[in-house]
Amino acid sequence: MNAKLAVLFFFLTIGMAVPILLGVREVADVQLPNLHTGYQPEQPIPYSHRLHAGVLNIDCQYCHTGADEGRHAALPTLDTCWNCHKTVKGRTASAKESITLLEQAYNNGMGEGVAWKRVHNNADFVYFNHQAHVRIAQFIDADGNVTDGIDCAQCHGDMAKEGVARQKEQLTMGFCINCHRDQNERHEAAKLPARAPVNACDACHR
Ligand code: HEC
Ligand code: HEC
Ligand code: HEC
Ligand code: HEC
Ligand code: HEC
Repeated sequence: MNAKLAVLFFFLTIGMAVPILLGVREVADVQLPNLHTGYQPEQPIPYSHRLHAGVLNIDCQYCHTGADEGRHAALPTLDTCWNCHKTVKGRTASAKESITLLEQAYNNGMGEGVAWKRVHNNADFVYFNHQAHVRIAQFIDADGNVTDGIDCAQCHGDMAKEGVARQKEQLTMGFCINCHRDQNERHEAAKLPARAPVNACDACHR
């Protein structure tokens, strides 16, 4: 083997193996997140979906605006949180402590710019549009029930049961195409127009 290559290979092996053996968390960050089911980065403020979307039953789109209007669902700014947390300061000691973190970040001018770590991240060569799915698509479930728009949970799982967001599905080509194929078959069976792309490569790769 070429000597330079051997040296490179040696360091790559050490570089990959040692952190894994030591159980270093950062290793998770270098894996491709879109292939990493269960990917759950630590967030700057310990926000919980289980509490807010579950117990308090706040609508997903109160925080994730734009999912029905365009390509992306926004992540909330601290201004959105502050609508409640200017008055809600928490009852337990740990809730008070976490909400104090939020208050400090807000007062430091982080209203607009809290750095939530991205959980899902499709490769740039993939085109995905929330509006087309959340609002425009007709969804037919296995029993033949037709609904307007696809529920968030079809792709993100039941977030109302989660703490910090965690990736539930591998957003592989198969994940997209399997649903498209099922949907088109069910649409044909129901004599409705089938519109989900299955083989047109340039629908998803533009
Ligand atoms: C009170 C505000 C709030 C509500 C309500 C809310 N979320 Fe979130 N969501 C957040 C915050 C903050 C983050 C970023 C921190 C995290 O990842 O947990 C997030 C992250 C996410 C992510 C991961 C985004 C990424 O980086 O890929 C998904 C998916 C998600 N939420 C879906 C939902 C769904 C579905 C619902 C409704 C069942 C919902 N959320 C309700 C605030 C909210
Ligand atoms: C048909 C599948 C599907 C449905 C339905 C869906 N999402 Fe997503 N969502 C995705 C994919 C795929 C990504 C990754 C997009 C990317 O990385 O460009 C994503 C990413 C996100 C993100 C991260 C920011 C972004 O847009 O990239 C948030 C937040 C989110 N979704 C919230 C929601 C909410 C809230 C709903 C329901 C109102 C919803 N999603 C419905 C597939 C879906
Ligand atoms: C619609 C009102 C509302 C919004 C919007 C809201 N929260 Fe909350 N949040 C609450 C309530 C109510 C509690 C429960 C406080 C208690 O009684 O202890 C809470 C609790 C919390 C806690 C403490 C959890 C614990 O028990 O440790 C944190 C941290 C928190 N919220 C962060 C956020 C963040 C970050 C956002 C914005 C992404 C947000 N909240 C948006 C109402 C809200
Ligand atoms: C749960 C089922 C489901 C999943 C999962 C899903 N789709 Fe779709 N998709 C649909 C349906 C239904 C339509 C048809 C929408 C309509 O009626 O116009 C559609 C339409 C589309 C379109 C055409 C509309 C547009 O935006 O131009 C594209 C592109 C697309 N999907 C990309 C994706 C990609 C990329 C993924 C995976 C990351 C994905 N879809 C995952 C159900 C799904
Ligand atoms: C419904 C949406 C959709 C359609 C249609 C689609 N792709 Fe993909 N494709 C994806 C997604 C999502 C990924 C990203 C997969 C990942 O990150 O693992 C991908 C990834 C790829 C990759 C990268 C290698 C890989 O497996 O990750 C290639 C090459 C590719 N697609 C080629 C094609 C070709 C050729 C066609 C037409 C026959 C096609 N795709 C049709 C959604 C689609």
